[in-house]
Amino acid sequence: MILKDVYRTVGDQTSLDTLSDALQPAVRGFFDGLGPARRLVKNALHGTWLGHPLHPVLTDIPIGAWTATVLLDALDDGRDRRGLHRAADATAALGLAGAIGSAVTGLTDWSETDGRPRRIGAAHALLTSTGTLLFAASLFSRSRGSRGVGSGLALAGLFLVAAAGFLGGELVSHEQIGVDHTAGREMPEDFVEALDDGELPEGTLKRILYKGTPLLLVRRGGRLHALAETCAHLGGPLSEGRLDGDCVVCPWHGSTFELATGDVVAGPSAFPQPLFETRVRDGRIELRLARSAS
Ligand code: FES
Repeated sequence: MILKDVYRTVGDQTSLDTLSDALQPAVRGFFDGLGPARRLVKNALHGTWLGHPLHPVLTDIPIGAWTATVLLDALDDGRDRRGLHRAADATAALGLAGAIGSAVTGLTDWSETDGRPRRIGAAHALLTSTGTLLFAASLFSRSRGSRGVGSGLALAGLFLVAAAGFLGGELVSHEQIGVDHTAGREMPEDFVEALDDGELPEGTLKRILYKGTPLLLVRRGGRLHALAETCAHLGGPLSEGRLDGDCVVCPWHGSTFELATGDVVAGPSAFPQPLFETRVRDGRIELRLARSAS
């Protein structure tokens, strides 16, 4: 209950908008400055190539490594334990390397959020940055022979990183950040009638409903395509987006999906769109699921 209150309070802190208003355009400006490489770099950092957001994969490295650091420090009984010291220092350094990757991927994902998730993401970033600085200072102290100070700094750093981890978890469970927004929807396993063939002009993004699940139908170059209409990233309505060649672009954050495969051409979505087979029978378009949510 207390943790929920903390989470609610953080999400209500409008002062975090000031930080976000300054940082978010800077992150976006950095990517825009990459020119033609922008899409490639962003896709790599979002985890489009992995079919899963990359950030939560990388966060396991600092959390695991730094927990090991603190545990190894706790085993230090003040005697000559060079092996123990070396192991503690190595895990602290490994955690720092992982924290850099986590920060870069996290900032990339965060740059496509707004409102409450953006605030909580900013607090999450502040806590992890401070925790990372404490571990950097800890490593420096250890290198100067001040192991006691280094252990204290590491313990404080781990506390902050654990608090950041709590906020990160709440971002997933409460704000649905980093989850596939097409998952768990009812979709037709066998062919079902969707629409009169004549009701789908070339180049129109048509939204239909199957048992409450919105589906997207498009005729492009004379070929019929069907995808889940809800964008896997954060649930944007693809029927309100636009066509770009043989792709559909989400109106919310610009995720771009290939019509023929549902694959992500450009993030932030790390998840492909569920894809449907189509056919025309007696003047009616029919469809069934070809590939479900990841
Ligand atoms: S909802 Fe974010 S790109 Fe579609």
